[in-house]
Amino acid sequence: MCSGLRHAAPSTLKGRVGPKPEFLEHVAHRRAALRAQLAAFVPRTAAITLEIGSGHGHFLAHYAAEFPQSLCVGVDMISDRIRRSKRKAERAKLANCHFIQAEARELIDSLPAGVTFNELWVLFPDPWPKKRHHKNRLLQSSFFELIARRAGEGARLYFRTDHDEYFRAVAALIPGLQTWRIDPAAQWPLEPVTVFQARAPSHHSLVAIRTSHPARPAKTTAPVPSPPAAPKSSA
Ligand SMILES: C[S@@+](CC[C@H](N)C(=O)[O-])C[C@H]1O[C@@H](n2cnc3c(N)ncnc32)[C@H](O)[C@@H]1O
Repeated sequence: MCSGLRHAAPSTLKGRVGPKPEFLEHVAHRRAALRAQLAAFVPRTAAITLEIGSGHGHFLAHYAAEFPQSLCVGVDMISDRIRRSKRKAERAKLANCHFIQAEARELIDSLPAGVTFNELWVLFPDPWPKKRHHKNRLLQSSFFELIARRAGEGARLYFRTDHDEYFRAVAALIPGLQTWRIDPAAQWPLEPVTVFQARAPSHHSLVAIRTSHPARPAKTTAPVPSPPAAPKSSA
């Protein structure tokens, strides 16, 4: 996790409030380290399958074995989960399956410019059930905008959750976006059960497809703020 960043107090420069220089330097170092890690396994130009919140790595390891031609990247903020995931990939000798500890939006920003998404998988993301915490949810319009920039027409986002209200909110959000649409007939290419799926009494799923509408350019190069701490329910 990105410890320490939440405590970065703003500084005032000619009346403008902005991040402190130490904070910006810290973010720049973290991003440089992330780019260096990514360079080890992601070519400058590649179409990848990205799993966000890859947890213990069950899904992606299974997927990478099933689709050896796909370059698979899993991202999670929790170091222990990434360690376990890497062990799975190593034991199964999956040369096409990589896991990296990072905040998802920061990872996406740090990928080489020529990297695009074929498929994105978001399985049982933290639901942030309290209304005042909904702003912390991953699947919001700003996130769909971010991934649209690297997703060509026809790219797919697979989403599954056991949280009814989160599912309804995402299903209601997508029809208002120009860059994504829901495909109610889309099939799931495989169905391995993740750790959180095994614990859930039931779940809902949807597949969003990238439309041909141009994505909006990135608004800013400002650092991604620290992610909120994971809620207790995901521990
Ligand atoms: C509820 S767990 C689900 C894990 C796995 N997908 C499964 O189904 O078993 C959610 C995971 O998302 C990770 N996560 C939450 N927010 C994230 C973010 N912004 N970037 C990367 N990982 C994140 C958490 O660390 C946690 O491992």
